Amino acid sequence: MDLSSKIALVTGAGSGIGSASALALAAAGADIVVNDIDASKASAVAGEVEALGRRALTSVASVADYPAVESMVDSAWSDFGPIDIVVNNAGIYLFYDGPFGDMPLDNWHGILEVNLHGVFHVSRAVLRHMVPRGAGGKIVNISSVLAATAHFTASSYHVAKAGVNALTRSLAVDLAKHKINVNAIGPGAIATEGLGASLDADTISAYRDRIPWGARGRPKDIGNVVAFLASEEASYITGQVIYVDGGYLADSTPEGVRDKSQPVPPDDPDLV
Ligand SMILES: NC(=O)c1ccc[n+]([C@@H]2O[C@H](COP(=O)([O-])OP(=O)(O)OC[C@H]3O[C@@H](n4cnc5c(N)ncnc54)[C@H](O)[C@@H]3O)[C@@H](O)[C@H]2O)c1
Repeated sequence: MDLSSKIALVTGAGSGIGSASALALAAAGADIVVNDIDASKASAVAGEVEALGRRALTSVASVADYPAVESMVDSAWSDFGPIDIVVNNAGIYLFYDGPFGDMPLDNWHGILEVNLHGVFHVSRAVLRHMVPRGAGGKIVNISSVLAATAHFTASSYHVAKAGVNALTRSLAVDLAKHKINVNAIGPGAIATEGLGASLDADTISAYRDRIPWGARGRPKDIGNVVAFLASEEASYITGQVIYVDGGYLADSTPEGVRDKSQPVPPDDPDLV
């Protein structure tokens, strides 16, 4: 895959899947606008991009704040160059296990503002430039297996990610005439700082037992698919959600008959 002469904006690129996506795109030749709400994480990843021989622009803004997003995109476009690739990755986890009638309003709105409205904000701000430029483009949204399933504690997260899938299809149809591909990736359980911080060890272990591959994924397992979807090799793929989950969604094996003896891959991130 050759992304040389391309510029990619990756949101939430300071850690986890965002960082791995930025580095996979840079390894394929792209220059990167490294967005995060955390300045020190963003500049550390920008340094790693530069160490790969690519240009990097650190851009601190919350994707939930539309004026800040528009200002970030406008200045990146004028000072760094036209954005060819957008990876809408920034996301947060807020779980709530009380009665639905008592759910804090901040839990519902907080998730939607970052995980769904953030995708809309960044896409809107970029498309205002990308469409009139007339050079096509790629949008890759980071969704989740939880768009297609349900956990009691995460209803707002499910709704946000299902919304990301719906927005992916809507934008893909609308933008096909401009040769802008819009796809989503639905990761399963990926070993990142964010997921590790929000789930206890027993819950992580229970997830791992439920994955046919026998291990959580690595951030680069998602970054590699991001780079593919951002490449010309994927130019006829649009409006799709590609689940990268070690078989999680495909498996309906009842817990009681599950084969626990399956070997775990040697590079299992849960073993290190
Ligand atoms: N890790 C998983 O198992 C998993 C599974 C499915 C989907 N996802 C999705 O992948 C994405 C990344 O998850 P991760 O596990 O790498 O998370 P992470 O917490 O490790 O990294 C998220 C990054 O986003 C940044 N961020 C948070 N809020 C932001 C905001 N408002 N604006 C800009 N940046 C912000 C954080 O500072 C952090 O650097 C999320 O959209 C998440 O929902 C993750």
